[in-house]
Amino acid sequence: MISYKPPLGWNSWNYFGKNVSERIITETADAIVETGLKDAGYEYVIIDDGWQAKQRAENGRLVPDPLKFPNGIKAVADYVHGKGLKFGLYSCAGLRTCADYPGSYDHEFEDAETFAEWGVDYLKYDFCHFPVYDHEQCWLFFRRMGTALAGCGRKILFAACNWGINGAREWIKTSGATTWRSTLDIVDTWESIKSIALSQNDIQPYNGLGCFNDLDMLTVGMKGRGNVGITGCTENEYRTQMSFWALMNSPLIIGTDVRDADENTLKMLKNRMTLEINQDPAGRQPFMTNRHREHPVWARLLDSGKIAVGCFNFTDSPSCDPIILPDYGLARVGGKNMILTDVWTEETFEVSDILCRSVEPHGVNLYIGEIKNA
Ligand code: GLA
Repeated sequence: MISYKPPLGWNSWNYFGKNVSERIITETADAIVETGLKDAGYEYVIIDDGWQAKQRAENGRLVPDPLKFPNGIKAVADYVHGKGLKFGLYSCAGLRTCADYPGSYDHEFEDAETFAEWGVDYLKYDFCHFPVYDHEQCWLFFRRMGTALAGCGRKILFAACNWGINGAREWIKTSGATTWRSTLDIVDTWESIKSIALSQNDIQPYNGLGCFNDLDMLTVGMKGRGNVGITGCTENEYRTQMSFWALMNSPLIIGTDVRDADENTLKMLKNRMTLEINQDPAGRQPFMTNRHREHPVWARLLDSGKIAVGCFNFTDSPSCDPIILPDYGLARVGGKNMILTDVWTEETFEVSDILCRSVEPHGVNLYIGEIKNA
C-alpha cells in the first residue's frame, strides 16, 4: 500500500515492551480518541513484539498469546476500527522475532493472509534472527513480504525495520515499504535523540515521498518510565525530538502511555504547525543550509510554497546560526522577504537579509517561513 504521508500513530514497544494485552490496546485506543490525538491526526494503533504465542499452530499459522489476547487479534482490530482508528501489528523477517517469538521467514505469504484476515492495516517488519546464509540477499525477503502484502487483498502499510543495515537505503524502495527504519533502536535519553538525529545527516537523499526515513518511535512524554525509559528527557529535549522527527518526514509514532499523558505532552504531540510540516503532501527531501554537524539548520520546501526551517542545537552551550535568504533560493536583494512563524511560541520574525536568534542547549527554533514581497 502506498502512503503519501508519514504515518501518525502509537506503538506499544517503548512503554510496554512485550507486556502487551487486549486491555492495554483497547484502553489506548479509547485514550487516543478522548485526548484529541485522533482529531490531531494520529490514527494507527500498533502492537509491537510480544503479541504472539511462542510457537506457530499445527497448521503453520501464527497465533496470539491466549493469555494476553484471549479473544484473538481480530477482536482487538475490530475494536480499534470501531473507534475510527487503524490497526497495526509486528512481525519479523527472521526465524524468530527480536523478543524470541516466531518470525515470518519462509512464512511470508501465509502470514500476510493471516494479517489480512485479522484486519491489519500496518505491518512493522523487523530483522532479528535472520539466517546468516541469506544475509547477503536479505532484500529478497523484504521484497517477498512486500509482494505478499501487496497481493493479500487488504491495504496494509509496510513499515520495514532492518535498522538501515545491509545497504537498505539502496534497495528498500524496491520492497514496497512506505517507511524504513534508518536508525538503531531509540531509548528515552538525550544521547539517544542526539545520536539518531546526527545519524540522518548523510542519508537525506534517500528520504521523501515513496519511502520515508523512520527515526523510530517518539519518546516524548515518557520521562524515564516504561520499557526503554532509562533517564528520561526534559520538555525542551522532547520538543527538539518532535521538531526534528517532524521536519525529517519521519513517522510520528507515539511511544508513551497515552492513558496517563499529561497536558504538556499532549500539547506537544498535537502542535498544529509541527504536524502540518510533517504531513506536508509534497513529502520533499529536507536539506541542510549549514554544515555544523552539532548545530545544523535543516529546511524543507512545503507544497504551499512555504518553507519549514529548524535551527537545532545538539550541543551543551547556546548556538546561533543565521538564517540567510540565499540559503532558501532567494536573492539577497531580490524584492522578497521571509516571514518566519515560530512553531512553538507563535512569534513572527521578518527576515529581509539575515536573522540570528540564539538556540538554547539541546533546543530548537522551528519555523514555517512564508515568502512575501519586500
Ligand atoms: C527491535 C526493533 C524495536 C522493537 C523490538 C521488539 O529491536 O528495532 O523497534 O520492535 O525489536 O522486539
